[in-house]
Amino acid sequence: MNCANNIVLEIDGRPVSVPCGTSVLTAAAQLGVNIPKLCVTESLKAFGSCRLCLVEIEGRRGTPASCTTPAEAGMKVTTQSPRLAKLRRGTMELYISDHPLDCLTCATNGDCELQEMAGVVGLREVRYGHAGRNHLQAAKDESNPYFTFDPAKCIVCSRCVRACEEVQGTFALTIEGRGFASKVAAGSSSFLDSECVSCGACVQVCPTATLVEKTVIEHGQPERSVLTTCAYCGVGCTFEAELQGNEVVRMTPWADGKANHGHSCVKGRFAWGYATHKERILKPMIRARITDPWREVTWAEAIGHAAAEFRRLQASYGKGSIGGITSSRCTNEETYLVQKMIRAAFGNNNVDTCARVCHSPTGYGLRTAFGTSAGTQDFDSVDEADVVMVIGANPTDAHPVFASRLKRRLRSGAKLIVIDPRRIDLVESPHVKAAYHLPLRPGTNVAVINALAHVVVTEGLLNDAYVSERCELPGFERWSSFVAEERNSPEATEHLTGVAAADLRAAARLYAKGPNSAIYYGLGVTEHSQGSTMVMGMANLAMATGNLGRAGVGVNPLRGQNNVQGACDMGSFPHEFSGYRHVSDDPTRRLFEEAWQVPLLNEPGLRIPNMLDAALDGTFRGIYIEGEDIAQSDPNTKHVTAALAAMECVVVQDLFLNETASFAHVFLPGCSFLEKDGTFTNAERRIGRVRKAMPPKNGMADWEITMALSEALGYPMHYAHPSEIMDEIARLTPTFAGVSYEKLDRLGSVQWPCNDKAPEGTPVMHVGGVARGKGRFMITEFVPTEERTTPRFPLLLTTGRILSQYNVGAQTRRTSNVVWHEEDLLEIHPHDAEYRGIEDGDLVALMSRAGETTLRAHLTERMQPGVVYTTFHHPESGANVVTTEFTDWATDCPEYKVTAVEIRKTSRPSDWQQRYAETRAETTLVGQDPGARRVSP
Ligand code: SF4
Ligand code: SF4
Ligand code: SF4
Ligand code: FES
Repeated sequence: MNCANNIVLEIDGRPVSVPCGTSVLTAAAQLGVNIPKLCVTESLKAFGSCRLCLVEIEGRRGTPASCTTPAEAGMKVTTQSPRLAKLRRGTMELYISDHPLDCLTCATNGDCELQEMAGVVGLREVRYGHAGRNHLQAAKDESNPYFTFDPAKCIVCSRCVRACEEVQGTFALTIEGRGFASKVAAGSSSFLDSECVSCGACVQVCPTATLVEKTVIEHGQPERSVLTTCAYCGVGCTFEAELQGNEVVRMTPWADGKANHGHSCVKGRFAWGYATHKERILKPMIRARITDPWREVTWAEAIGHAAAEFRRLQASYGKGSIGGITSSRCTNEETYLVQKMIRAAFGNNNVDTCARVCHSPTGYGLRTAFGTSAGTQDFDSVDEADVVMVIGANPTDAHPVFASRLKRRLRSGAKLIVIDPRRIDLVESPHVKAAYHLPLRPGTNVAVINALAHVVVTEGLLNDAYVSERCELPGFERWSSFVAEERNSPEATEHLTGVAAADLRAAARLYAKGPNSAIYYGLGVTEHSQGSTMVMGMANLAMATGNLGRAGVGVNPLRGQNNVQGACDMGSFPHEFSGYRHVSDDPTRRLFEEAWQVPLLNEPGLRIPNMLDAALDGTFRGIYIEGEDIAQSDPNTKHVTAALAAMECVVVQDLFLNETASFAHVFLPGCSFLEKDGTFTNAERRIGRVRKAMPPKNGMADWEITMALSEALGYPMHYAHPSEIMDEIARLTPTFAGVSYEKLDRLGSVQWPCNDKAPEGTPVMHVGGVARGKGRFMITEFVPTEERTTPRFPLLLTTGRILSQYNVGAQTRRTSNVVWHEEDLLEIHPHDAEYRGIEDGDLVALMSRAGETTLRAHLTERMQPGVVYTTFHHPESGANVVTTEFTDWATDCPEYKVTAVEIRKTSRPSDWQQRYAETRAETTLVGQDPGARRVSP
């Protein structure tokens, strides 16, 4: 059959032309003929189990299922006939005879495909009754905190099993038994104890009330919906927030969302309850000293007090004595306003963002090599990749929807290389096995990337045509001579990296031969003293092998928080205006001076670590922090908290009284993403709309709070809506020149650059040439971190995230996600544990030269001997009490991923933890939850 062309067939006497391979059911739908169906659904491959979609085809015997029958040229199909109607009614009668007839009280009444199909096929009576064998008494599984499984309502259509396999890639569900005994099972246990990761894909496709959200059971069907973007990770999934009045009933991933294509993970899908959590602070508060109780005040008093304090500090200590921090959790518009206020109203460039502590090396490294501070591809690109190299990232936990997409590609034949000290899930999971796992020692990324490049250069695996056409040749020559040196070979570096030379050589060959090879990386690359070097090393490798500038290739940062990319794009760094233009660039600065009608400084301001050091020196006295919890998230907690305690005016704008708020003098209650308008920019440079689903519970949107503070400081801004802020960003930022809310509403989302050259955005960058003109190879000498293991601290600690929690956990800890992760654990290889007499579940003191904390041990061979690992989602864990002050040489990004430590069995919390618990108890009212601090009337 020639599949290149459309074919024409006849359905119910009408011709229809469809692409070859289209099912008869889909062809009929194209004509507006909706054949009854139950087991088929758009997001899954047809399965043909329910027998409801039967049709008659001229010249064929029987009544084939139209969902699994491919349309053929000249076919004559009948979709309605007395015989078909009788057969469909018979099938439906069998379903209904084993189904509780409680439609009126069922949670999905009115939104149930079984109910709808019973109507469509004209079922009027059920002759078999419920007297015979049935499943009506089957026990419900309510173990999952977010959805129930009621087998009495299951029609065994297998949609859930297929969604778990095809969409999510977890393979948690099976159909057990045969015939009447067949049933859906989550392994041999309950949903909660199974492999299920609560992504909700099965719930979404279930045509009955078998799998249904508990919120829908509790509140009933939603009555309206608002399209918005998830506020958790950098995948940026589009959701429909479905509401009753102003209460969210369900978050449904949107099928047309270009980042997620209708899929979700447990966080975006279910963990939104924090928005209405009782610990949320809704009234502004001030206090003179951080030991005083909070006093609730009006917005005017709080804003006026903050502004007066900032002006007092500037008068006493100078203009540069205050600054601010923007957040990757906030929208582009909010972030833009904060940096504008700091530059224009504070009159200095002391603005930084939490991207400082995660992906600042990405910005620096990719800009140096390619000319743009962003990932090169869209997520769809992974479908074209033949080889995927995942470096220092754990997508199944931190970027789950992208991970599902990647796993689907791997199941269909792409090869995987994982470079990570830990055996992350991707290394081996159902139907996925990495071709190579290179378990390097933490801190040796650059030695590994150089060794990979050494193999490419010395084994003749270079893409000479790409290099000569698109790269700077003198730089390439220098680089290729450098990596070709024997000291960079896999054999010479094996003792440093711990990676077997043979594996490394094989992985290099696999990557180089692709033909399409893509690199995806995370904080395991950036959060090192050589984070920027490693980013440039990956860019070198991609250019040398020609893996840039088309689908299926590239260098792709997996951004941690929802708007890391946007926070960087919006000019949050002290040295850059929006669009990565240096403050010393006169034409750019003049552009902003003219637009903002204020003189601007031409010298970079302080980065976060500089602000903290200056606070301890006594020269930096006040800070405005929007949406960031530096007391928990930044390294060397003792240093951070001492610096915060040294300041005279700390203003925190957030949802909850977080750890940083313990040091605040003014607390401005912020909004959740459900309460505001704006945009987020995800890891693929995709700008997506955040839409207000409910009014701000605190009475003011975050952008309005910043505007009020700016006005109180004497620099009024005049925006009536965030769309006007975006219009200003577009006017002043060449890569955003074509962005407007109207366009975002029309197209759903766009990827920057979006301007006259690319009016609908740029899915893949560097097509036809590298953005900076020619790609730049940089020498990436491996310089070992100064953080070394010693006899006193013989192990290396590295840190990361887990699926159910998000970053400092302020949001996810206030949802039922805690059932999966109540505390941060310390993963230890059994050999290291045995040597120290530590058993699984023991309390273990984790000591570095920076500090000590106590965590519970989890023994696992996922770790390599000599390396321990923990997460940092719970403040009382004090993971950052232990991490050190070392940072990336170029960007000051902290070296979270390498800390020399020792561990020993203990029976008590560390001194820091005891002090932390005492402070918490002191500031907690009797009867209130921890986290809700003392407030005076
Ligand atoms: S649980 Fe729902 S989707 Fe799964 S087999 Fe039963 S009815 Fe079908
Ligand atoms: S929630 Fe997701 S992981 Fe769990 S069974 Fe359903 S599809 Fe599978
Ligand atoms: S993958 Fe990321 S963006 Fe998508 S639902 Fe999960 S947390 Fe939200
Ligand atoms: S929809 Fe075709 S067999 Fe179920």
